[in-house]
Amino acid sequence: MVLQTDIRHIGGSTLEVSAVGVGTWQWGDTSIWQYGQSYGTQDVDDAFKASLEAGINFFDTAEVYGRGLSETLLGKAARKANSPVVIATKYAPLPMRLKPAEVEKALEASLNRLGLSSVDLYQVHWPYSLIQQEDLMVALSGAVKLGKAKAVGVSNYNAAQLERAANLLEKYGVKLASNQVQYSLLHRKPEKNGVLEACRRLNVSLIAYSPLAQGLLTGKYSGQGATEVSGLRRFMPNFRTKGLAKIEPLIKELKSIAAEREKTPAQVALNWLLSRDKLVLVIPGAKNAKQATQNAGALGWQLTEREFARLDKASAAI
Ligand SMILES: NC(=O)c1ccc[n+]([C@@H]2O[C@H](COP(=O)([O-])OP(=O)(O)OC[C@H]3O[C@@H](n4cnc5c(N)ncnc54)[C@H](OP(=O)(O)O)[C@@H]3O)[C@@H](O)[C@H]2O)c1
Repeated sequence: MVLQTDIRHIGGSTLEVSAVGVGTWQWGDTSIWQYGQSYGTQDVDDAFKASLEAGINFFDTAEVYGRGLSETLLGKAARKANSPVVIATKYAPLPMRLKPAEVEKALEASLNRLGLSSVDLYQVHWPYSLIQQEDLMVALSGAVKLGKAKAVGVSNYNAAQLERAANLLEKYGVKLASNQVQYSLLHRKPEKNGVLEACRRLNVSLIAYSPLAQGLLTGKYSGQGATEVSGLRRFMPNFRTKGLAKIEPLIKELKSIAAEREKTPAQVALNWLLSRDKLVLVIPGAKNAKQATQNAGALGWQLTEREFARLDKASAAI
């Protein structure tokens, strides 16, 4: 457990962000991947404003989210904002992308949608690419050298892939800033598969995606008055009766600590991640102002060692 700090650097870069950011995957996404409560563009605009008001300055998007709509909505909101924001987007190594020049083209298209001349953090969305890793890293370093990206990162890379990406970038004079992977109290693989350790060794931020386990760790799907599971979530094992029963002891512990500390289970779950390591940043998805404000409330306080250990134990038992 580490002493929590609310403002953190992204890896060894100069980018300073709130340790809680906002994931914008679902912004404007009307595809089959949309799940849960219905919401619209006004809601996501309100989520953006509420985040800024609560001291959040870090927003994560990708060219594939809502087929570019997430970038468009985020860019529009960011241009209207009266304080600076740090924007991360991602290059998708789609199978039809066969030449390194595709990276530059994709970044240009992302910048157009965002309405920006450069992006803060440009990430490779996943490691499987028909373009060789070395060529991908040359393209990323080129984006930094051309001033189109302030820092670069990867996503869904395992420890070996991460090490290789960092070494390749180093060869071209650029530092790898981050690796975005799934990490939550219900998905602790980065602690066991060497990814967190590699991030420490390389001074790379671990950007935790799905930090609320897609809403499960808010506790709203358990107990009296539980929210009905709807949409795509009905087909996810963790949201089915058996899955919900299995995680109940952890949800109970989250709710109990939340009640003692006058916090919400979501705030407790996010604070646990931030207390794990100073290199961890979290990007919970927020679809409206209420969720955004609540998630920002994971900052400004710290779990005690005992509370941290209670959650550690409850989650390890699942
Ligand atoms: N790099 C990758 O491959 C990858 C993959 C997945 C995600 N991501 C990134 O990570 C971000 C977050 O991941 P995620 O959306 O999968 O999962 P998440 O952050 O664990 O859960 C987000 C969902 O939980 C619910 N929620 C959030 N805050 C809440 C609150 N305070 N109270 C009650 N409910 C709340 C909302 O759904 P409802 O309103 O429907 O309940 C929201 O859509 C994405 O937006 C994206 O930027 C990256």
